[in-house]
Amino acid sequence: MEIKMDLAQQLVATKKEFLVPCVYHFYQRPPVMVRGEGVYLFDSDGKRYLDCYSGVSVVSAGHSNPEILDAAIDQLRQLQHTTTIYLTEPMLELARAVAELAPGNLRRSFFCASGSEANEGALLLSSLATGRKECVYLKDGLHGRTKWAMSVTGLDMWRTDPNPLVTAHAVPGPRHPESLPALEQLLKQETIAAVIAEPIQGNGGIVVPPDDYWPQLRQLCSQYGTLLIADEIQTAWNRTGRWFATEHWNVVPDIVTVAKALGNGFPIAAYITTDEIAAHYTRPGASTFGGNLVSCRAALATLTYHKQHQLGDRSTTLGNRLRSQLIELQRRHPEIAEVRGRGLMIGVELCDAEKNPAAALTDSVLERMKDAGFLLGKTGPGRNVLTLMPPLVVTSDALDTVVEGLDQVLRLK
Ligand SMILES: Cc1ncc(COP(=O)(O)O)c(C=O)c1O
Repeated sequence: MEIKMDLAQQLVATKKEFLVPCVYHFYQRPPVMVRGEGVYLFDSDGKRYLDCYSGVSVVSAGHSNPEILDAAIDQLRQLQHTTTIYLTEPMLELARAVAELAPGNLRRSFFCASGSEANEGALLLSSLATGRKECVYLKDGLHGRTKWAMSVTGLDMWRTDPNPLVTAHAVPGPRHPESLPALEQLLKQETIAAVIAEPIQGNGGIVVPPDDYWPQLRQLCSQYGTLLIADEIQTAWNRTGRWFATEHWNVVPDIVTVAKALGNGFPIAAYITTDEIAAHYTRPGASTFGGNLVSCRAALATLTYHKQHQLGDRSTTLGNRLRSQLIELQRRHPEIAEVRGRGLMIGVELCDAEKNPAAALTDSVLERMKDAGFLLGKTGPGRNVLTLMPPLVVTSDALDTVVEGLDQVLRLK
């Protein structure tokens, strides 16, 4: 008898046949997503899920946000694509809007299409501006898939390149007491163009540094003539309660990279820097899709939406509330080793009785939460950190249901 495959099984089979196998998906029984609306995703059976991962910190203003869609559709009808060889308004309007929001004297943008590209560009710029060719990155950081971006990625799982650049040097992560002393040893050689780091490590497991870490990092970079690149690809645009996470410590980096939530799902990324540093990049540079008209109009509408709906304040208030509820949950569930984060960027680390990463438990919690209608993320070097980064338009009532759902799932484990 012929066994009929359901849609998910068919898609997994197609994936296996036609995609490079590195492209993996979550879940033993993966749903097929067909629609998004606000904080919800709907699968092909019509089942509704509360999205607590936002396509990895992207749809902060909600799925298919009508105001952002209207701006993009309007632009699509007028003119979809030209590249930067012709003058158009949206990219320049966006550059101006970004300069107004960016910290300190960061006011010049280079637009491109993905986070990896933004980091690659920022590292190139640091080399041009300092005349140096080496760089430093932190253990458990993630910066992308391209050659340079992967060479500075400190998370083993995402460090696939067997021949990373030998000019990229790792130091321990921000919660390790040896991090800054090891960094200073390298900076002293005065050969380091840039240090690249995430203000809060996302894929590393929502690692929040001690409060004096970034101010000291800033001071060391300035002392040794090294540029500080803040990879804010996951943290920027109010995810942590501020437009940029480095604002929590009043630190102004030399270059900031952004992507993800800037376009609320339309592909757009950028590096942002000062007049002085930008002045070193005068040879022609272009990105075919960089500054794409539709993405720029969507990004402008996204920033307007964030301002009108005060998504930064929402992120802080809802994030504080959710974190304290999860800490409360920790009292009842000893497998929760730590709850950490800022704003609505929250990690819940699961460990066994010996304090080892509980990766299998994390997978089963993720699967059962999905079955109960909640989509969470999973990060950390031990793949044992449940990650909550819901759209910033989520309500406190909806977040209460996530905490209740997690309580029940952990009780049944
Ligand atoms: C902090 C950080 N940097 C860079 C990247 C790479 O961005 P992209 O996938 O857009 O190339 C990511 C992606 O998750 C990220 O989280």
